[in-house]
Amino acid sequence: ALPARVRIHEVGARDGLQNEKSAVPTQVKAEFVHRLAAAGLTTIEATSFVHPKWVPQLADAEELFPQLSDLPGVHLPVLVPNERGLDRALALGATRIAVFGSATETFASRNLNRTVAESLAMFEPVVARAKEGGAHVRGYLSMCFGDPWEGPVPVRQVVRVAKALLDLGCDELSLGDTIGVATPGHVRALLGGLGEEGVGADLIGVHFHDTYGQALSNTLAALQHGVTTVDASAGGLGGCPYAKSATGNLATEDLVWMLDGLGIETGVDLAALTATSVWMAEQLGRPSPSRTVRALSHK
Ligand code: HMG
Ligand code: MG
Repeated sequence: ALPARVRIHEVGARDGLQNEKSAVPTQVKAEFVHRLAAAGLTTIEATSFVHPKWVPQLADAEELFPQLSDLPGVHLPVLVPNERGLDRALALGATRIAVFGSATETFASRNLNRTVAESLAMFEPVVARAKEGGAHVRGYLSMCFGDPWEGPVPVRQVVRVAKALLDLGCDELSLGDTIGVATPGHVRALLGGLGEEGVGADLIGVHFHDTYGQALSNTLAALQHGVTTVDASAGGLGGCPYAKSATGNLATEDLVWMLDGLGIETGVDLAALTATSVWMAEQLGRPSPSRTVRALSHK
């Protein structure tokens, strides 16, 4: 059975824009988030409080975040790797944060300059302090299916780090197919493996990148397993600067087209969302890779 409603966790302003070659003006980012909210998205990942040299595209987090304070009812999670990042986020009143771990050692090293164990140790006080302050904490887990340097990632290796993130106190997980190599059978195997270890679908969000065109099929497999939180990026923006061969996320429009067709509620106005991605594509100077955006905006 499929769920009646899906919560879309919109990552375009973070996962999308962190990978842009050109600097997007803060004003444009603020307008992007406002347009996403107006299109009905209620969880919009806003930015990252990471080292500005590691992700210069999001170095304006202090400037941007206060410009989003007029969006009541919209959750604005932000990425935070360490206590320094948490301090910055809390100083601006963030109430939803996300730490981001890796299932593989190579990506932990490249993305966080830490081993997997060291990164979990780095997150421990972050999650504890965030929870003490009443914040909601998401735990991203990257390279859940394949890693560009290590190849296919065994289910048990992912399960181990997923459980460690939950043990730290994360409220939910987001399982990242960072480079977009997953296929539906692998999704079923991972969700099954997590279920056997007591990690239920209610704790899981899925985060697919669309490199091989499998993101929607993978999403459907996850929905059939009971998952109701799906990450997507407006217009299919995105990728990770520290993950070789990562392309954009599942496009939010492609996701909404499928969910609308299945009669699954999202609260998103597809026409308004598509108009937003067409506008953003103009700002970035290239067309959206989303098939749905292209189909609906074709004149
Ligand atoms: P490091 O070089 O090991 O940092 O980087 P450090 O802890 O040694 O600190 C060095 C200096 O940086 C210090 O300054 C710190 O204060 C400063 P100094 O004392 O030398 O003057 N510093 C900071 N400044 C501002 N904000 C901070 C911060 N932290 C330290 N938060 C670090 C370690 C984690 C900081 C670095 O590796 C980093 O910022 N990494 C972020 C990488 C990133 O954002 N990647 C993209 C997001 S993950 C992703 O896209 C995947 C996802 O979408 C899911 C999927 O698809 O799989 C989520
Ligand atoms: Mg990602």
